[in-house]
Amino acid sequence: MNYIGSKVIETKRLVLRPQTMKEQKHLWEILMIPEVNRYFLTVPPKFRDKLLDWEKQEEYYQKDMEHALDNDVFRWSIFLKQTGECIGRLSCQENDCGIEDANIRDVGWLISPDYQGCGYGTEAAYAMIDYMFQEAEIKEIRTGAAIVNPASWHIMERLGFTRQKETKWIQYTFLDAPVEDYTYRMTREEWLAKKKQ
Ligand SMILES: CC(C)(COP(=O)(O)OP(=O)(O)OC[C@H]1O[C@@H](n2cnc3c(N)ncnc32)[C@H](O)[C@@H]1OP(=O)(O)O)[C@@H](O)C(=O)NCCC(=O)NCCS
Repeated sequence: MNYIGSKVIETKRLVLRPQTMKEQKHLWEILMIPEVNRYFLTVPPKFRDKLLDWEKQEEYYQKDMEHALDNDVFRWSIFLKQTGECIGRLSCQENDCGIEDANIRDVGWLISPDYQGCGYGTEAAYAMIDYMFQEAEIKEIRTGAAIVNPASWHIMERLGFTRQKETKWIQYTFLDAPVEDYTYRMTREEWLAKKKQ
């Protein structure tokens, strides 16, 4: 794979930019909305209180942002072209399910509830996945989404991921019991073939 970091990506309505500290409080406020974090955050539940406290989070984000431009970081804030407003974030991170291969990655995305249902999630995800397969030249994406979270797995299916037979039980941060997730995969070859159609 090519370690080229989070270059600026433009779509019809959006600009995906490497993250900066400037928009982190706004993104944290979005992330702390229960309907956003419910099937998204997988930080161990013991950190719930810490997550809800911006003063504690600010320090974490400040350290994190020192690496926002590193070549092995693939994470973007999503801005509306028309207004410049930051409406979400997305990432293509190393897979944490025991595969030690940086070429096989996971994805994550969130859009502010104020802007959901307008196709922004699909538009941003398409652009990031295209960048990861075409320019970063990763081999495969393995990901998943809660069965009760169709807004997310619709994006996966729309973009050509294949749902696997096996499901996974995930302990989400703010839920007391594990939740069943569909799992999905897509290879670079599948993406390129789909684009040619
Ligand atoms: C998942 C998420 C990023 C989707 O963003 P979005 O901008 O609303 O997505 P889109 O408008 O592009 O819609 C994506 C698909 O989901 C469908 N959808 C949107 N909201 C939906 C809902 N509430 N229920 C069912 N389907 C929904 C859309 O119809 C579309 O499917 P289609 O292409 O088959 O028509 C957004 O809902 C979100 O931030 N959720 C909270 C965080 C999260 O759960 N992230 C994913 C973790 S795996």
